[in-house]
Amino acid sequence: MHPTTFDLFADHEPEQQPRAEQIGEQSWVLRGFALPVIDQLLPALEAILAVAPLRHMMTPGGFSMSVGTSSCGTLGWITDRSGYRYSTVDPMSGQPWPAMPEVLSELARKAAQRAGFADFHPDSCLINQYVPGAKMSLHQDKDEKAYAAPIVSLSLGLPAMFLFGGFVRSDKSQRIPLLHGDMVVWGGVDRLRFHGVLPIKPGRHPQLGERRINLTLRVAG
Ligand code: SIN
Ligand code: FE2
Repeated sequence: MHPTTFDLFADHEPEQQPRAEQIGEQSWVLRGFALPVIDQLLPALEAILAVAPLRHMMTPGGFSMSVGTSSCGTLGWITDRSGYRYSTVDPMSGQPWPAMPEVLSELARKAAQRAGFADFHPDSCLINQYVPGAKMSLHQDKDEKAYAAPIVSLSLGLPAMFLFGGFVRSDKSQRIPLLHGDMVVWGGVDRLRFHGVLPIKPGRHPQLGERRINLTLRVAG
């Protein structure tokens, strides 16, 4: 084997990285990956939500989403009666979204790298808050301008059952429990897989209380 190829392979030896679980050809769950920086992340997240508060957005079909949503970064994902899109301003304030904290973009870059995607530089981070009972129906992330970059997700607070499906909605989904500090990366051939979250079960997390917050980092523009 060519030495370079060997090195790349060694980097992904499951024995050496027991907390990375492969869930697709180019999709990984990185258990506890965010835990080392969580004490820096949580205050940064609170500061973002103080400026750009969570709100229940309306789908184009006229339904209020069960998750509370905000964003940071250059672009924020929004939905209303006229459709889904990315916006440079928070429609609630008319101001640009809060900047993406470096601790978050660096964490996402490292997670992407760990999953085999080099040079991930997200310009958007969607923040979704789930209270018990809130859920996310199966969907594809396809409002981004291009799909070359992966999606990097970070789970905080209460546990969730993540659904990781196929390329049509009716494909059978894997059920993947996600805990505080876990990250999921999907990209490349898996970039447009359907995914969602089952209703969050009641509970209380010692740091976040009765909620789950999921951050998804993307290259949107
Ligand atoms: C999403 O698909 O935007 C959210 C995924 C999650 O909450 O884990
Ligand atoms: Fe999504």
